[in-house]
Amino acid sequence: MNTSDVKDVVKQKYGEAASRVAQGATSSCCGGAPGSGSCDPITSNLYDPAQAGQVPEKALLASLGCGNPTALAELQPGETVLDLGSGGGIDVLLSARRVGPTGRAFGLDMTDEMLALAEENKRKSGLANVHFLKGEIENIPLPDNSVDVVISNCVINLSGDKDRVLREAFRVLKPGGRFAVSDVVVRGEMPAAIQKTAELWAGCVAGALSDSDYLAKLAAAGFDNADIEVTRVYNIEDAREFLAGQGADVQELARQADGKFVSGFVRAVKPPVDRAASAVPATAAKAASAGSCCAPSCCGGGV
Ligand SMILES: C[S@@+](CC[C@H](N)C(=O)[O-])C[C@H]1O[C@@H](n2cnc3c(N)ncnc32)[C@H](O)[C@@H]1O
Repeated sequence: MNTSDVKDVVKQKYGEAASRVAQGATSSCCGGAPGSGSCDPITSNLYDPAQAGQVPEKALLASLGCGNPTALAELQPGETVLDLGSGGGIDVLLSARRVGPTGRAFGLDMTDEMLALAEENKRKSGLANVHFLKGEIENIPLPDNSVDVVISNCVINLSGDKDRVLREAFRVLKPGGRFAVSDVVVRGEMPAAIQKTAELWAGCVAGALSDSDYLAKLAAAGFDNADIEVTRVYNIEDAREFLAGQGADVQELARQADGKFVSGFVRAVKPPVDRAASAVPATAAKAASAGSCCAPSCCGGGV
């Protein structure tokens, strides 16, 4: 599948999930009664009752993450937060409360039905410092150096171009800004049979990076201090239940998946002095001696 096909599958899956929630059902595909929560081992029981009580019911019902980045990201009053793939908006609303009225929380998503649900949840929450944006995490519609913290919850694994997503996260972060993301990560190699299945991709598993690839890609994007903290391990019975709904060869896939899939809290920091900025003087000096313009604005000098 090319990246455009992946996006179409993802939009369809999450559009359907949002529509289920809009009609009062759970976003989970496993048939739980409205309000019963999800039986998916990845997305269930991520928020404690105090956090759940801070958001509209439909934000909780729409929760399709695999961790709780706002609980781990140490958000401070006044900060600007961006949630990549914000879905029904639960982490954006929780972030908005943490950063307070002097801060801002942006949610970015490409699926219209999810954005509509998120807007409804924003309206019910009464929060004024929340902004939902339509767009792709591979092309973040925000300026360079404008965000203190990038969060995300089980979305980067869905992208067909993760290097680009990480470069975009780096670009929009201010120097010293934090990447604080929950994601499904694979320990070791991904079984090829899982990678081939678009349905599984949309189900959070098949696009997951290995832990070593994730750290290498973060470093390649320019981040420092990259680290993955395992927050949940999926055993063979978890995988069996999850895979059963996907029409896959459960016996074989569950055997191959045993102990390999985990949820991780992935952290990294953009260096306090922007490497691109520090690289400009040398480039500019060279260009000046050659008599040409080399300001970042005319050399395409982003990060
Ligand atoms: C697994 S859900 C997670 C939603 C939310 N983060 C949560 O914890 O409930 C994935 C969300 O990411 C969005 N998404 C997936 N790939 C995307 C992309 N490339 N650009 C923008 N949004 C994307 C989907 O539309 C969907 O709303």
